Amino acid sequence: MAKKQLLIVAHAPSPNTQALVEALLKGSQHSDIEGVSSHWIPPLEATPEDVLAADGIILGTTENLGYMSGALKDFFDRCYYPVLEKKQGLPCALYIRAGLDGTGTRRAVESIVTGLRWNWVQEPLTLKGEWQSEFLERVEELGLTMAAGLENGIF
Ligand SMILES: Cc1cc2nc3c(=O)[nH]c(=O)nc-3n(C[C@H](O)[C@H](O)[C@H](O)COP(=O)(O)O)c2cc1C
Repeated sequence: MAKKQLLIVAHAPSPNTQALVEALLKGSQHSDIEGVSSHWIPPLEATPEDVLAADGIILGTTENLGYMSGALKDFFDRCYYPVLEKKQGLPCALYIRAGLDGTGTRRAVESIVTGLRWNWVQEPLTLKGEWQSEFLERVEELGLTMAAGLENGIF
């Protein structure tokens, strides 16, 4: 059977945020999961075709000036209408790396995801404050949860 496709569209401008992407990939590519293929595309490079080919999507962004990164916003600006009618119900998750807050970003992404009618598989993760290595465990778990759910047909 064809593998399910898990798309990760995450902005990773710093060593910490790159480590988050790696942890997410590690979780989603766990050796117990055979039926899911996951790959990361930076938001500025992700296209509507990437979304159309996906069975699930994990979004990741920093909070910049109280909002999602410009890169993730650009992704939505380019992809919203081309996928709107075709990907309703797409299983979706979000993590936010924020210095202090994260709520403005969460609200903004939630409202776009509501418009797209994608389905949250779990509450958005906000990884805020000083960097903690525990953040890596949380996104790794998110990657595993999403991939396992796709494999089992739960999402
Ligand atoms: C220009 C700029 C604006 C930022 N704005 C916010 C913000 O509005 N809210 C917030 O919580 N963090 C803000 N931050 C902090 C970043 O989210 C944080 O530095 C980024 O996620 C990278 O985290 P890292 O240092 O662990 O790699 C800002 C950082 C920069 C450089």
